[in-house]
Amino acid sequence: MNRTAVVTGASSGIGEATARRLAAEGFDVVAAARRRERLDRLAAEVPGIRAATLDVTSQESVDAFAASLDRCDVLINNAGGAVGLEPVASGDVADWQQMYDVNVLGTLRVTQALLPRLIDSGDGVLLMLTSVAGLVSYEGGGGYNAAKHAQTSMTEVLRLELVGKPVRIVEVAPGMVHTEEFSLNRFRGDSSAADRVYQGVPDPLSADDVADAISWCVTRPAHVNIDRLVIRPRAQAAQHKIHRV
Ligand SMILES: NC(=O)c1ccc[n+]([C@@H]2O[C@H](COP(=O)([O-])OP(=O)(O)OC[C@H]3O[C@@H](n4cnc5c(N)ncnc54)[C@H](OP(=O)(O)O)[C@@H]3O)[C@@H](O)[C@H]2O)c1
Repeated sequence: MNRTAVVTGASSGIGEATARRLAAEGFDVVAAARRRERLDRLAAEVPGIRAATLDVTSQESVDAFAASLDRCDVLINNAGGAVGLEPVASGDVADWQQMYDVNVLGTLRVTQALLPRLIDSGDGVLLMLTSVAGLVSYEGGGGYNAAKHAQTSMTEVLRLELVGKPVRIVEVAPGMVHTEEFSLNRFRGDSSAADRVYQGVPDPLSADDVADAISWCVTRPAHVNIDRLVIRPRAQAAQHKIHRV
């Protein structure tokens, strides 16, 4: 039987690219997110991918999703994102709540639901898609910095708590990735503000660059745990040091 990989947030960006990469590696991939029609299109196009509806902010949805799975060998906790770039002083509590619910509690819900299957598989991989925003804070980072730091902490705690169990705990922390929707969502649909994020940057990372790194982490031998892989475009030496032409 093929190994099964679950990818959350697989309807766009890094999640979609990861679903494609893992299917190419021979995994049975369960591509999960809220926008079912996008997932159905992906599943119809790529052999080895099947679509599943999942809202990580709903315990009911996570429970139903977990109950629908026969097995889970690899879990890619990718669903997440940012809302707003306001200073802490004027940040909207509702935005912070939303970011916390998806990036932190969403990851927690899915992890709790699937951890027993990962352990039962005898060689599980739990991968957290965090961000360099979870390692270094920046002005306007506010709720997203806080949420991604929390996700990074959760990853570290899990690795400590699960030592001795047959499951690897991996973190992939990307810098600037030019995906279709991430910045658009952050700027609430303002496409010119979203475009300015990448303006003049010679080559931001693509979703597939990150998916390639994820796929590499997941396909190491069972005893090799990539604790944290930080991946940035060459043009981004640090959070505040971006080369633009
Ligand atoms: N782009 C970057 O620069 C960057 C850098 C570092 C880290 N990251 C992280 O990488 C991950 C993917 O980002 P991306 O750039 O690929 O963004 P994206 O294109 O906006 O994708 C986000 C995905 O998350 C899903 N999602 C959002 N809320 C969800 C929910 N409640 N339940 C289930 N799925 C949900 C979305 O699907 P539905 O709307 O269909 O549910 C979508 O598939 C995120 O965790 C992000 O924080 C991104």
